[in-house]
Amino acid sequence: MKQEETALNEDEAKDAAEPEAGKFGRRTFVKGVAASAVLTQVAIPWAEAEVVGSGPGSEHQSVITLRVNGVQHRLVVENRRTLASVLRNELGLTGAKIGCDRGQCGACTVLLDGKPVYACSNLALWAEGSEIQTIEGLASGDRLDPLQQAFIEMDALQCGFCTPGQIMATKELLNRNPNPTEQEIRMACSGNLCRCGAYMNIFKAVAQAAELKRRG
Ligand code: FES
Ligand code: FES
Repeated sequence: MKQEETALNEDEAKDAAEPEAGKFGRRTFVKGVAASAVLTQVAIPWAEAEVVGSGPGSEHQSVITLRVNGVQHRLVVENRRTLASVLRNELGLTGAKIGCDRGQCGACTVLLDGKPVYACSNLALWAEGSEIQTIEGLASGDRLDPLQQAFIEMDALQCGFCTPGQIMATKELLNRNPNPTEQEIRMACSGNLCRCGAYMNIFKAVAQAAELKRRG
């Protein structure tokens, strides 16, 4: 457990450092590019899973199928692994961040069957059979989601750590409400903390995204 925590901390440190390195700037980060991932474990395709000792038959591991951004992944995972951990460390989808790892900050927010959830507070096992959407699944080729576009235009981020979570939380809002009031936008963001205090621009960006979406 200690080893896994250390690996995650190193992973987070890389994520925090790389936007400043120029190669992966803030705007690239908003697009959900996950190329900076440091994989602490390698995904094990089911067909290739070689099990020695405790394997899929063990009470501690399971074979699961996760459907993420329209792609199916069959994996052998420990039953205790969170969805956030598996997305990041097995599938290399590092857009969802791990801030608190205990359901307090919202940095890990993804959509599960269209609803925003804290991926750090859901076991990967529980997500089997659900449609999972992460920040990496929003853009269509070079075409950004209106929320991604608006966050850039309104400069709605500073360090960017909370940004994927903010976008996924408000994605659900705009899916069900194309013309939200400021109060409704604030409510949708209420489960997502921004330590940089970029809230005002985040609210403006969500309103701008709604406008962009309405214009098509
Ligand atoms: S990392 Fe999941 S809520 Fe903070
Ligand atoms: S932009 Fe830094 S935490 Fe929100």
